[in-house]
Amino acid sequence: MAGSSFGTIFRVTTWGESHGPALGAVVDGCPSGLPLSSEDFIAMMSRRRPGSSIMSTARSEADLVEILSGTFEGMTTGTPIMLLIKNTDHHSADYTEIADKYRPGHADFGFDVKYGIRDYRGGGRSSGRETAARCAAGVIAEKVLESAGISFVTEVESIGGIPYEESEDFIRHLRSEGDSCGSVVLCTVKGVPAGIGDPVFEKLDANLAKAVVSIGAVKSVDIGLGHQAAESRGSMFNDAFVSTGNGITTGTNNAGGILGGISTGNDIVIRAYFKPTPSISLHQETVRSDGTACGIDIRGRHDPVIGKRAAAVVESMAACTILDSMLINMSARLSSFRSFYGNK
Ligand SMILES: Cc1cc2nc3c(=O)[nH]c(=O)nc-3n(C[C@H](O)[C@H](O)[C@H](O)COP(=O)(O)O)c2cc1C
Repeated sequence: MAGSSFGTIFRVTTWGESHGPALGAVVDGCPSGLPLSSEDFIAMMSRRRPGSSIMSTARSEADLVEILSGTFEGMTTGTPIMLLIKNTDHHSADYTEIADKYRPGHADFGFDVKYGIRDYRGGGRSSGRETAARCAAGVIAEKVLESAGISFVTEVESIGGIPYEESEDFIRHLRSEGDSCGSVVLCTVKGVPAGIGDPVFEKLDANLAKAVVSIGAVKSVDIGLGHQAAESRGSMFNDAFVSTGNGITTGTNNAGGILGGISTGNDIVIRAYFKPTPSISLHQETVRSDGTACGIDIRGRHDPVIGKRAAAVVESMAACTILDSMLINMSARLSSFRSFYGNK
């Protein structure tokens, strides 16, 4: 399988399947000297962990992250960091009945066409469980970014079109009906200095969009006002530059903190749009892998809304992308090279 790695200097590879013994990440390119222990992962992992709210699957995983390499005496050494997360609560028997049926809205059909062999238990590699590894990598990226004064505020903005705070009754109703619905996650990144990102193929907004859309069930992403820009006028949309005591920024932030692929110093504003969870308890019609029509009743344990658990994943993907861009940016000017190596 190609494409399990992303990033150029801060490079993350995820591995493992939903119903295998374990999954995890290898993080290469993390600078040495970062204090890192298993405890650092607990807060982020519990934000993504199944079984933590009415919006999430009842699968109950501890999601403890073991560090197998890349640290010595609690500090990163600059070598690849191998992170292991054990799968302890998978019920593979739930999937035997539907082993040769294609779940509507899920990745089963594509896997069979592409690889000809598929781990049908829980979606294998295309399970939402894969994103636990992304969150583990995100913890490391956030720790590095934190040392540069960069922070994240991430929340579920709406569920099925209803503002998040007002959605509890709606979710209960949805659950009782065995249905699912879509959601929007808003991630705001504060403190990213101006000048991060490149102007053409490595635009910061392009890389953020790719990172976020690579999360299962994300169908769209906005940077700043995003798709609303297509309905705006230049006179309304353009962010006027202003001078502050600390330099130059923009007064408004319709562009979401990025112009020409390069950060402006304003907040970076990302919205991720999640489709409804494909696995629903309601009876559906589909086909078997041999093409015969059949009904499908999906058992297993599924999130009725993905956004709640996926907020941590959106934040982690943003963190990894921004850190990678910042590390790349250190080679943008000769003066940076000289200040690092000196004039010899
Ligand atoms: C955190 C998270 C949890 C998810 N939970 C489920 C789930 O319980 N059941 C399900 O069918 N899909 C779930 N998904 C979505 C599937 O992984 C995704 O829809 C599927 O891989 C197909 O990919 P696509 O929707 O990007 O086309 C979850 C995704 C994420 C990010």
